[in-house]
Amino acid sequence: MKKSVLDYTLKIRLPVTVFVIVVSFVLTFYVSKTERDSIGYAPEQPIKFSHKLHAGTMKIDCKYCHIGVEKSRFATIPTTSICMNCHSIAKKDKPEIIKLTNFYLSGKAIPWKRVHKLPDYVYFNHSVHVSMGIDCSHCHGEVARMDVVSQVHSFTMGACLSCHRNVHKFVPELGNKIKKGPENCNACHR
Ligand code: HEC
Ligand code: HEC
Ligand code: HEC
Ligand code: HEC
Ligand code: HEC
Repeated sequence: MKKSVLDYTLKIRLPVTVFVIVVSFVLTFYVSKTERDSIGYAPEQPIKFSHKLHAGTMKIDCKYCHIGVEKSRFATIPTTSICMNCHSIAKKDKPEIIKLTNFYLSGKAIPWKRVHKLPDYVYFNHSVHVSMGIDCSHCHGEVARMDVVSQVHSFTMGACLSCHRNVHKFVPELGNKIKKGPENCNACHR
């Protein structure tokens, strides 16, 4: 290789190549970050159900629909029959309610898309947290103001642990009566 060609390779091509690689790495890192953290994830649902309307304006209690949240590991998504308590009458001519009624009559569950999901190797229990008085909003944000539910807080290991280590800071309204959460591995990986 002639000296000038080598010079060009070292002084121009190499730095440019390195620059391009670094920039595209940094870009893809940040662009895919929300996806990896799941923050902002708000899938379109099979029926346009609005929490803002039902839990916000109409003030239906979260537990009326999420019946497991105080007594079991899972909050649970309501069955169609819970909706039909009202919608066998309310707005029954609207297209979205006709869709709802058809699901109900067919006996098929509505294929709601899951918004918050931990990997299978993590153990989480709603009743432990909720019965202690920790409000849903600490983990899910202000769902009663959302037309479409989206993930607001990250559910990484670091996020769980930072509340467990410092509950008073995250849930100040409970004062000093609240205990710390566990930090030992087998509490969450059992
Ligand atoms: C009238 C019934 C009803 C009420 C009341 C209700 N929800 Fe829901 N909730 C649903 C349905 C149906 C879904 C599944 C569809 C969706 O995600 O919008 C859901 C989904 C959710 C999800 C997302 C679950 C996932 O997939 O990760 C959260 C979080 C949630 N609700 C929290 C709340 C909170 C907090 C309240 C009270 C402020 C509340 N809900 C009140 C019916 C209800
Ligand atoms: C300490 C944090 C925390 C609190 C408080 C909390 N959640 Fe959750 N919620 C989670 C996590 C984490 C998941 C995902 C669980 C999984 O994938 O196993 C979840 C999932 C859900 C789901 C969907 C899956 C399921 O469990 O059936 C619903 C619905 C839900 N939460 C509703 C609520 C409601 C309503 C409240 C308040 C009464 C509440 N959550 C309080 C952390 C919390
Ligand atoms: C406690 C009664 C009650 C329950 C339970 C209830 N709804 Fe509703 N829902 C209403 C009322 C009342 C309206 C009309 C509100 C308005 O427009 O002022 C409504 C409106 C709606 C609408 C908008 C209809 C339109 O196009 O105008 C949809 C979609 C809906 N509900 C779906 C659901 C689903 C799905 C469930 C079950 C997860 C559910 N609702 C549970 C009372 C209820
Ligand atoms: C807002 C604060 C807060 C957040 C966020 C939180 N926790 Fe907790 N958690 C607590 C507190 C406080 C306790 C202690 C309960 C007790 O000992 O009575 C606890 C207890 C637990 C326990 C022990 C109870 C049992 O079932 O054995 C597990 C497991 C647990 N948390 C898992 C998680 C996981 C996984 C996450 C993240 C997805 C999480 N927590 C997020 C506050 C929190
Ligand atoms: C308070 C609950 C909690 C405790 C305690 C906990 N973890 Fe985790 N861990 C999680 C959650 C939640 C995830 C899933 C993280 C994600 O999806 O980003 C996780 C993920 C992991 C992973 C997968 C890789 C990663 O970083 O995402 C490993 C390995 C792990 N934990 C090891 C440990 C070890 C070792 C300990 C004890 C020193 C421990 N964990 C204690 C909640 C916990």
